[in-house]
Amino acid sequence: MLTRSLKVSLFLVVVTIFLCTSAWAEKKKVGFPNLSEKKLEIKRGFTPEALKCIKCHSKKTPGIVADWKGSRMAHAGVSCYDCHVVKKSSPMASQCEGVKKEMPNVYTSPMVSPKACERCHPSEVEQFSKSAHSKLAGAPVIEKKKFQKLFYELEGGEFAGIPKGDPRTLAARQSGCQMCHGMKVKLKADNKPTDDSWPGGIGTRYPDGGIGNCTVCHNRHQFSIAEARKPEACAKCHIGPDHPNIEIYYESSHGQRYLSEGESWKWDSAPDAWEPGDYAAPTCATCHMSGIGDLSTTHNVTERLKWDLVHAKSVIRSGERGDGEKGRKLMRKVCSNCHSKVLIDSHFAKLDRAVELYNFYYENAQKMMKELKAKGLLKKDKWKDPFQELNYYLWHHVGRRARHGAAMDGPDYAHWHGFFQIFQVYKDMEDIYNWRIKNNKIEPLSPVMSSAPY
Ligand code: HEC
Ligand code: HEC
Ligand code: HEC
Ligand code: HEC
Ligand code: HEC
Ligand code: HEC
Ligand code: HEC
Ligand code: HEC
Repeated sequence: MLTRSLKVSLFLVVVTIFLCTSAWAEKKKVGFPNLSEKKLEIKRGFTPEALKCIKCHSKKTPGIVADWKGSRMAHAGVSCYDCHVVKKSSPMASQCEGVKKEMPNVYTSPMVSPKACERCHPSEVEQFSKSAHSKLAGAPVIEKKKFQKLFYELEGGEFAGIPKGDPRTLAARQSGCQMCHGMKVKLKADNKPTDDSWPGGIGTRYPDGGIGNCTVCHNRHQFSIAEARKPEACAKCHIGPDHPNIEIYYESSHGQRYLSEGESWKWDSAPDAWEPGDYAAPTCATCHMSGIGDLSTTHNVTERLKWDLVHAKSVIRSGERGDGEKGRKLMRKVCSNCHSKVLIDSHFAKLDRAVELYNFYYENAQKMMKELKAKGLLKKDKWKDPFQELNYYLWHHVGRRARHGAAMDGPDYAHWHGFFQIFQVYKDMEDIYNWRIKNNKIEPLSPVMSSAPY
């Protein structure tokens, strides 16, 4: 790591370099003097190799260089070279057009895994790798068989006649699941990534063994903590009918304060030093990640959770899903910076009751399902069987919305998109169950559900 004083002097050097070299700025005439290259005066800071990357790329990909040069890491002397240059022996070693011509002994990669960040940020990478954002996030796309059936055979159109292995079958996975969850990156003969396996979401698995994609919250090439502290950093993924976390946040009291006055909050306090006063109400990061009061920042989003609210039945977390009892204590510590015990008790009592009510519906539905199965009254294809379709929506959509709404102060999601729809779905399931038991057969033509209850 660099010392503060070194950082300050590097900052000045970087500023000088960019006043002089930014071809992009010249072209756009955004207030920089139009200096010719002969006037460049660079004495130290970046190595000559790193300068070559920056110089050429400020012409070839000016958007990337402009983004990077505003980043803290640029100010600290971290450049393209530090993240994109790999050893010749790396499985990801290839050469960009420019290095092939001008620096034949240098190898680059468009892929940058957490292994690259780990050299300078070991504790962030270690915490991240213990969270469900790492290996667990990639698993549904990479290794769980039942989801492969979902995105290739069903969404990918094999069932409707597209031949197995046809590139069109990749489209649903690649444009959806992969961009949130991540994929295992595959390589072409030139060691660049295949067009269907990269880029990917938070649990991307790289050929160098690195797992994760840090840029989903710290977008490249700014890599800003201010950005990651805002709720929008989570919203590409934590959105929609099955986990409407950003929608819940916007409707919560916390979101109300953020939306009405967040622009004037202080977002760029030093790491781990972002405290109430800099902001009035917490964001996703405050509750799930940031240091606050006694708590230190963590890149393990699993750490402060009690319940597993993502799967069909909610249980207290254990094993690879964390330690639920400890998680609750940590989360309560977050709240206690701004709320009294009586409000915090009330909030978590409300959450725990919502989980218990949801679990009651879910377990009863499973009893009906079990009986129908034993009597041969379930269709083999669950997507043509309204009872089984409803069962899916019960936990995956409406049930998760109710639980997440109760957890994060989103009454509309807890109620109208949640418990209100749970009872409707449940009643329909009961009707179908009663009809099948009474007639000892499956109703002849199933009503087809074209979309989820919303
Ligand atoms: C002489 C110009 C030049 C130099 C020097 C140069 N590049 Fe490039 N680089 C390019 C061009 C041109 C591309 C292709 C852009 C495109 O695909 O449109 C490229 C592409 C890339 C890519 C995208 C992946 C790929 O392989 O196409 C990365 C990453 C990259 N360069 C990093 C670097 C790094 C790191 C350095 C310094 C070690 C560097 N470049 C030096 C011109 C250069
Ligand atoms: C702190 C590390 C870091 C630095 C510094 C950095 N990059 Fe990147 N870059 C990344 C990461 C991470 C990605 C995303 C890689 C992935 O998804 O696997 C990326 C992606 C890219 C890509 C491919 C994506 C695209 O939009 O085409 C190019 C090209 C690239 N960087 C060029 C550069 C250039 C040029 C510089 C220097 C001005 C630079 N990078 C500096 C980490 C860095
Ligand atoms: C060669 C060392 C090095 C590498 C490699 C590196 N970083 Fe950094 N990073 C730094 C330094 C130095 C700082 C500045 C620390 C400071 O300002 O106190 C920094 C700061 C940061 C910050 C804080 C930015 C802010 O707004 O305060 C983030 C986020 C970050 N790095 C992410 C990454 C990611 C993601 C990667 C990998 C893609 C990466 N870094 C790779 C050295 C590195
Ligand atoms: C918009 C981004 C997004 C898309 C697209 C997406 N997911 Fe998810 N998925 C998430 C988020 C966010 C969660 C975590 C919700 C939570 O923790 O409550 C999640 C949770 C899951 C879980 C439960 C966690 C686990 O590891 O068991 C599975 C399984 C899953 N998704 C599979 C898929 C599959 C398969 C696809 C594509 C068919 C897909 N997802 C598409 C964002 C997405
Ligand atoms: C889920 C979103 C998210 C992801 C993914 C993420 N970060 Fe962060 N990161 C944050 C937030 C939020 C902060 C600011 C914490 C605070 O308030 O101090 C942060 C802060 C940092 C900092 C500043 C020092 C510190 O620890 O506070 C570094 C360095 C950093 N992240 C590196 C990384 C690296 C490396 C990765 C990939 C392994 C990564 N981040 C992935 C959200 C994320
Ligand atoms: C690129 C997509 C993406 C982004 C951005 C993202 N997440 Fe996630 N998140 C996921 C996925 C996928 C999962 C499900 C992981 C699993 O269980 O398989 C998840 C799970 C979680 C969980 C539940 C963890 C667990 O142990 O079950 C929390 C909490 C969470 N994310 C918080 C955040 C926060 C806070 C941010 C923003 C600072 C954020 N996420 C940004 C994709 C994302
Ligand atoms: C006021 C604090 C707070 C804020 C703000 C907040 N959360 Fe949460 N979040 C919680 C609590 C509390 C839980 C439930 C913890 C438990 O299990 O007891 C939770 C649960 C979750 C879960 C469910 C994890 C699982 O088991 O499936 C996800 C995902 C999540 N939050 C993501 C987010 C995202 C994304 C944002 C911002 C859009 C956000 N949270 C904002 C406190 C917060
Ligand atoms: C940075 C300070 C801060 C933190 C941390 C914080 N809150 Fe809040 N919270 C507020 C503010 C400000 C409001 C809106 C004004 C008010 O109701 O006090 C609010 C409102 C609420 C409300 C709505 C109260 C009502 O009367 O309608 C609930 C519930 C709530 N917070 C729960 C929590 C929980 C649970 C946590 C921890 C997981 C938490 N808050 C963490 C600042 C915070």
